[in-house]
Amino acid sequence: MELTKNCWLWFLVLSVTVQFASCDQEGFLSLSCGGTTTYVDSSNISWIPDASYINVGNMTTVDYLDRSSSSRLPVRFFPDSLRSKCYRLPLSNVSSVVLVRAQFVYKNYDGLDKPPEFSVSLGRAMTTTVNLANTDPWIEEFIWPVDKGTLSLCFHSLPGGGVPVVSSLELRPLPQGAYSNGLADFPSKLLKKTYRINCGYVDGSLRYPIDQYDRIWDADKDFSPYHVSSGFDIQNTFNLTSLKENPPVAVLQTARVLARWSDLTYNLPIDDLGDYYIVLYFAGILPVSPAFDILINGEVVRYNYSVQRWNAEDLSFTMRGIKSLNITLKSTSFYPLINALEVYEIQDIPRETSSTTVSALQVIQQSTGMDLGWQDDPCSPKSWQHIECNGNMVSSLDLSNVKMRSISPTFGDLLDLKILDLSNTSLSGEIQYLGSLQSLEKLNLSFNQLTSFGSEFEDLMNLQVLDLQNNSLVGLVPESLGELKNLHLLNLENNKLQGPLPQSLNRKSLNVRTSGNLCLSFSTLSCTDVSGIQTPQVTIFSPSKPKDHKHIAAIIGAVGGVAVASALISVCVILFIRRKKPQESSAQSAQVDIKNWNSAKVFSYKEIRSATHNFKEVIGRGSFGSVYLGKLPDGKLVAVKVRFDKTQLGAESFVNEVSLLSRIRHQCLVSLEGFCQEAKQQILVYEYLPGGSLSDNLYGTKSKRITLSWVRRLKIAVDAAKGLDYLHNGNDPRIIHRDVKSSNILMDSEMNAKMCDFGLSKQMTQGDATHITTAVKGTAGYLDPEYYSTRQLTEKSDVYSFGVVLLELICGREPLTHSGSPDSYNLVLWAKPYLQAGAFEIVDESIKGTYDPESMRRSALIASRSVERDASRRPCIAEVLAELKQAYSIQLAYLASGGFMN
Ligand SMILES: *[C@@H]1O[C@H](CO)[C@@H](O)[C@H](O)[C@H]1NC(C)=O
Ligand SMILES: *[C@@H]1O[C@H](CO)[C@@H](O)[C@H](O)[C@H]1NC(C)=O
Ligand SMILES: *[C@@H]1O[C@H](CO)[C@@H](O)[C@H](O)[C@H]1NC(C)=O
Ligand SMILES: *[C@@H]1O[C@H](CO)[C@@H](O)[C@H](O)[C@H]1NC(C)=O
Ligand SMILES: *[C@@H]1O[C@H](CO)[C@@H](O)[C@H](O)[C@H]1NC(C)=O
Ligand SMILES: *[C@@H]1O[C@H](CO)[C@@H](O)[C@H](O)[C@H]1NC(C)=O
Ligand SMILES: *[C@@H]1O[C@H](CO)[C@@H](O)[C@H](O)[C@H]1NC(C)=O
Ligand SMILES: *[C@@H]1O[C@H](CO)[C@@H](O)[C@H](O)[C@H]1NC(C)=O
Repeated sequence: MELTKNCWLWFLVLSVTVQFASCDQEGFLSLSCGGTTTYVDSSNISWIPDASYINVGNMTTVDYLDRSSSSRLPVRFFPDSLRSKCYRLPLSNVSSVVLVRAQFVYKNYDGLDKPPEFSVSLGRAMTTTVNLANTDPWIEEFIWPVDKGTLSLCFHSLPGGGVPVVSSLELRPLPQGAYSNGLADFPSKLLKKTYRINCGYVDGSLRYPIDQYDRIWDADKDFSPYHVSSGFDIQNTFNLTSLKENPPVAVLQTARVLARWSDLTYNLPIDDLGDYYIVLYFAGILPVSPAFDILINGEVVRYNYSVQRWNAEDLSFTMRGIKSLNITLKSTSFYPLINALEVYEIQDIPRETSSTTVSALQVIQQSTGMDLGWQDDPCSPKSWQHIECNGNMVSSLDLSNVKMRSISPTFGDLLDLKILDLSNTSLSGEIQYLGSLQSLEKLNLSFNQLTSFGSEFEDLMNLQVLDLQNNSLVGLVPESLGELKNLHLLNLENNKLQGPLPQSLNRKSLNVRTSGNLCLSFSTLSCTDVSGIQTPQVTIFSPSKPKDHKHIAAIIGAVGGVAVASALISVCVILFIRRKKPQESSAQSAQVDIKNWNSAKVFSYKEIRSATHNFKEVIGRGSFGSVYLGKLPDGKLVAVKVRFDKTQLGAESFVNEVSLLSRIRHQCLVSLEGFCQEAKQQILVYEYLPGGSLSDNLYGTKSKRITLSWVRRLKIAVDAAKGLDYLHNGNDPRIIHRDVKSSNILMDSEMNAKMCDFGLSKQMTQGDATHITTAVKGTAGYLDPEYYSTRQLTEKSDVYSFGVVLLELICGREPLTHSGSPDSYNLVLWAKPYLQAGAFEIVDESIKGTYDPESMRRSALIASRSVERDASRRPCIAEVLAELKQAYSIQLAYLASGGFMN
C-alpha cells in the first residue's frame, strides 16, 4: 500500500506544463510613478509615465532593480507642502471588479535613511498604513468594486512619518462576479490582500502572463511531506467554468497533499483584527477522490469534503472579528489536498455624504470665489478643511475669515450641521436661509455687517450659543430669541441695537452680552434719549425679582396713566404684526376678481378633481408641490400644478400672479389655461406638453427620451431664448424668470420648446428700475454668482442661467455632478475654459462629428459669455437669441449641403 502511494506520487511529479492564456492586457493600466518614458518589461507589460493621472508630487529615482527596469527605478514623492496627494485612476474601461496594486519603494532615495510611514486611501476608504521601515519595497493589493468612472488613490502623511513615496500603480480588471461573496453588499466593501498562495509550488511567484489577470500567486513554503503536480494538461480535461475567480491553470496544476490519516495546516499570521474572506481552490488532480474536513481556526467549516477527479471547485468563507488564522484539512479518506488559497481583509467603504450636502458645499465654495481644496467626498476618507463630520454627515462648518458677502441659500441644505461659524466673512443684510438647520447648536455670525435678525431664529430650537457681536444690527431684539430654550450664550455686543430686551431672555441659564449698543438692557430707564423709536418706556417687569413691585408702582405713578396705556397698545401692535403670517391674510376678504382674466378660466375644485381623475397621475414634482395630468371636458390635456400649503401665496399675491401669467401669451412660453382657488388650494392649470422637459430628454432613461441632434438642440435653444426674450423685452412690466433651467424647458409633440414655470417670476415694477433686491431663489448649478453676492436681480441673472442650459446642450451633462474628476463637478467652471479656447473635446459624445464647426464655435462663445461671472460682461438675451439663430441657420445649411444627416 505504502509502496503504491509513493509510486503514483513520483509518477505525478513531472515538469509543469504551463499553459499561457491568451493575454491581451485589455484594460490594464500600469503607471510608472515619477517615470518619464514608456517601456515594456520582461513580462511584456507596457508601463507608462503617471503624469497625466496626477498633477502634484516630485520625482526622483532610486537604486533598485525592479522586474521592469535595468536602470534606476523612478519614484514619486509628496512633500508636506502639497495639500492633495491623489491619483485619479480611470475605471471607465473596467466592468465590475478591479485589482489595484501599488508598490512603494524607499531604498534611501533621499539619503536621509529615514523610511517613511504613511496612510493610503482608495475612494472614501482609508485602507492601510505603509511602513517602509518594516519592508522595502512594500506591495499592497486591493480588490475594488467599480461603481464610478474614476477611483482616487491618495496618500496621507502621518505626524513625524516622513514623505509618502510610490513607485508603481497597476489596475487589472478581474472576471465578472469574482470574489462576489467577499464584496457582498456592493459597493460598500473592498478587499485587501493578505495571502495568495500557489499551494505545492516552490519556484517563486507566478503572475502575468500565466495569470491573465496579473494577480501575483506567491510560492508555497518548502515543506514536507509531499506536493504534487499533475502530469497532464488540466485545461483540456477539467471543467473549470464554475471557478468565478478564474485562477490560472498553472496554479491549479500543483497542490499540497498529505498522507492518509494526517492533518494539513496552514498557519497564516495576520496583523489586524478584522473580518477576513478566504477562498480555497481544489482540483481533482489525483487518481483518487480524497475526502476531508476543513477547519478554520479550529472550527469545522466543511465536513467530509470530497474532491472529485477531473473536477475543480472553490470554496469561500467569511470569518468575522479574527486576529489569527489557521486552516486545517483533516483527512477522512485518502489524501487531503489543496491547490491554492487566498485570504483578504474585508474593509468597509464609508457611505457617501448626501449629494444635496455635497452640491451645497460646492456652491458655497464657488460663492467664496476661492479654491478651498474641497474635492471628492466631504467626510471620507478625511474630512475637508473647514469641515467636521459625524459619520457621513457634515456636522460642523467653519468658514471664519473667508470672504463671502452674503449668506448663500444653500447653507439651508446642510441639515446635519451642529456648528456653523461664519464669523468675519463680510456678510451683510438680513440673517436668512438658516431656519432649516434644526440641529444647529452653535452659530457664530460675529464680525460681519449684518443689519437685521430676519425671522428664522425661532426655528433653531437646539441653538445653545449665538454670537452676533460686532455687526450692524439695528432696532429691537426680536421676541422670538426668547423661545430658544436651550440658548445659554447670546452675544449682542457692539451692534446698533436699542430698546428693551425681551423679558423672555431674562433667565438665569442664559448669559446675554449687550455692551457696545446704543441702548440695550432689560431696563430702558437708563436710556435718556432714544431718538425716534416708538417703544414703550416702561419695561422693567422682572419676574425673577418680585420685590420690585413697589418700584414699578412708583414708575407708573410718575409716568402717568396715558403713557402706560399707549405703551400697552404699542406692545399689542408689535405682537399682532409678529403673529400675523402672510398666508393668513384673509383669503376671504381678497375676493377673487373674475372680471377679466383674458383667456384664463376659473375652475372649481370639483372640476379640477374630475379633470385629474382625483389627482391620479403625477407628471412632475417640485419644491412648490406636484403637477398632475388632467383632461378637460373638451378633451384638451392639461398640466395641473397644486401648491403645497407651505408655499402658498397670500390670496392677493396669488391673484396678482394669475393675472400676470394670464396676460403672457407667446408661442415659446407655456400658457396658463386657468386656475382654481378654493378650499385652501391654489391650483394653476397649464397647457400640457407631451414631449417632456429638456432635462428629461438629455438625461432621462433611454426609453423615454429622444435623440437630440445638434440641430434639434439649437432649435430648442432658439425657442427658449425667444420665450425669455419676450419676458425680458416684449412685455410690460418686464419679467425676470428667476428659475431658468433645463427642467423648465418643455417640448410639445413637434419638439418645439417652451419655457415654463414663472412661479418665481418678478416683475420690474418701475419701468426705469435697473434691478430689484430680493431673497435669492433659484436652483443650484444655475444660480448667477453675482446675484448671490449682491442679491440684486436683473435680467442678466436669467442670461447666466440660460448660459448654463446652453452648456448642457453642448456638453450633454448636468450643471452639477458628483462623479468624475472634481475639476468637472461644476459644469460652468469645467467647460468655460475649454469653450473659450475653442477646444471642443468636451462636446457631447453623441453629437460629435455631426455639427458644423462654425455653428458650434458661435454657440460655445455665446454660452461662455453668458456665464461670465461679471454680469455687465454678459450679453443681453436679445443678443444671445441673434447669435443662436445664426448658429442654427449655419447648421441647417451644413446639413442641406450634405453634411452629417440626422
Ligand atoms: C507582447 O504584447 C503584444 C501586445 O500587447 C503582443 O502583440 C506580443 O505578441 C506580445 N509578445 C510576447 C512575447 O508575448
Ligand atoms: C518639489 O518640487 C517643487 C517644484 O516642483 C520644489 O519647489 C520643491 O522644492 C521640491 N521639493 C522637494 C522636497 O524636492
Ligand atoms: C479604454 O478603452 C478604449 C477603447 O477600448 C481605449 O481607446 C482607451 O484608451 C481606454 N482607456 C484607458 C484609460 O485605458
Ligand atoms: C461545467 O460545469 C458547469 C457547472 O459547474 C456546467 O453547467 C457545465 O455544463 C459544465 N461544462 C461541461 C463542458 O461539462
Ligand atoms: C488553530 O487555531 C485555533 C483557534 O485559534 C487553535 O485552537 C488551534 O490550536 C490552531 N491549530 C493549529 C494547528 O495551530
Ligand atoms: C465521506 O464521503 C465519502 C464520499 O464522498 C463517503 O464514501 C464516506 O462514507 C464519507 N464519510 C463519512 C464519515 O461521512
Ligand atoms: C478678519 O479677517 C481678516 C482677514 O480676512 C483678518 O485680518 C482680521 O484680523 C479678521 N478679524 C477678526 C476679528 O478675526
Ligand atoms: C465667534 O468668532 C469670533 C471671531 O472668530 C470669536 O472671537 C468668538 O470667540 C467666537 N464666538 C464663540 C462663542 O465661539
